[in-house]
Amino acid sequence: MSTLGAFVIFGATGDLARRMLFPSLYFLDADGFLPPDLRIIGAARSAHSDAEFRKEVEGWVRERAGAFFSEKSWADFSKRLSYFAGDATDPASFTTLRDKLDGTARGALFYLSTSPALYIPIVQGLAKVGLTIEPNGVIVEKPIGKSLKTCDEINSAIAQHFAESRTYRIDHYLGKETVQNLIALRFANALFEPLWNRHTIEHVQITVAETLGVEGRFGYYDEYGATRDMVQNHLLQLLSLIAMEPPHDMRPESVRSEKVKVLRSLRPIPDSELLMKTVRGQYTRGVADGKSVPGYLEEEGGKPSTTETFVALCAHVDNWRWAGVPFYLRTGKRLPTRQSQIVIQFRDVPHSIFSGAPLMANRLTITLQPEESIALTIMNKTPSLNQGGYELQPLSLNLSLIDAFKGEKRRRIAYERLLLEAINDNSTLFVRRDEAEAAWLWIDRVIEGWARTGIRPAPYQAGSWGPAGAFALTERNGHSWYE
Ligand code: BG6
Repeated sequence: MSTLGAFVIFGATGDLARRMLFPSLYFLDADGFLPPDLRIIGAARSAHSDAEFRKEVEGWVRERAGAFFSEKSWADFSKRLSYFAGDATDPASFTTLRDKLDGTARGALFYLSTSPALYIPIVQGLAKVGLTIEPNGVIVEKPIGKSLKTCDEINSAIAQHFAESRTYRIDHYLGKETVQNLIALRFANALFEPLWNRHTIEHVQITVAETLGVEGRFGYYDEYGATRDMVQNHLLQLLSLIAMEPPHDMRPESVRSEKVKVLRSLRPIPDSELLMKTVRGQYTRGVADGKSVPGYLEEEGGKPSTTETFVALCAHVDNWRWAGVPFYLRTGKRLPTRQSQIVIQFRDVPHSIFSGAPLMANRLTITLQPEESIALTIMNKTPSLNQGGYELQPLSLNLSLIDAFKGEKRRRIAYERLLLEAINDNSTLFVRRDEAEAAWLWIDRVIEGWARTGIRPAPYQAGSWGPAGAFALTERNGHSWYE
């Protein structure tokens, strides 16, 4: 077990800390995964005593844990908690923090759950008081920058003080059970690998659809938009796990080196192809989750904006395995359902012997949300005597992960796995600097291309699957989205 001494959360009263970080740490503790002497320190600007802060955290944890809240586990967990009021831009705050950490000889992890604008001041503040010395480490949340240039600035500032091996860039999709299961599916089964290439796969679809709107995050979201908020990180991480070569083992460098090769193989989309290969959308008034909802521009009292809340892209991975196979990526707010899904569409049989009976090509559907499942669609004969006794229909071999693991008490929060890996000093599930930068390089070209060519988001009604162009994107190649 790790011997980490302290886990410090900057931005400890923010939304992420409330909904994810403290509940995750609580559950890890309740299940006996935290080092026995680990102290957890919340840091934020507002003034709180330790007792007040514990009370607040208790409320957040109770709400998130629901029936899984245990008084005994809380009593144990709360003993680890303390609070530190400080200003990330004030050097004196860091001296106080250092004094607070004195006696914690075994190292500290600093989680920056703040506005990205504070990442550099915090790391520099920590460095000035000697808190960046190994074995201390830092965890940073996405978005790391807004472009390759700004990502590089943040990474370089961090790298001056923390080694890459002690820098954990979080993409919470990598903590999701089904995302990790993608690695198991591909490399713990002999079945798929021989088929996992351009010879058998027609195309791949990755959809992350949300019914939610911007939920009080207009200020942040309007600056970033769907492409920077979701595609640069979550969707490209999914793509790289699907497309990567088998790594030698599960060590961080083995897995991440394979992922970065995929990101570097993404074919740049030239300006002349942007209209064919990309679609931007912005939702207008409509109905989501059965309720009438305002349009994006109405969210902030009619503030004009050309930020996209929907994006669809047709990407190509230029290597021998994937040459010619389109990877369709799609994500958006205010879509009809919450659904995150990867579809591997196999090719048609080369020649059908069943004259008159239409065949549907095999399809592997990996659903991450709302319920985790893996389904393989295969053609079957019905018992009917129609069509010369060969009436065929597609049936699905369904593996519902919920049913398969019914014995498991509760679904873990993706952050639990990630925080535990960082505490245990394992970087496999974190994004390496070159990965983040390769993803920005590809995305920057698209975003800059939109600016150069004046492509603005097309309106789509809240509750629909995005602008019409999103359908044309796949249909142009004879494909269609699966919903
Ligand atoms: C976050 C984005 O990274 O992921 C949000 O900033 C988005 O805009 C969220 O809603 C989606 O995560 P999940 O786990 O709910 O699919």
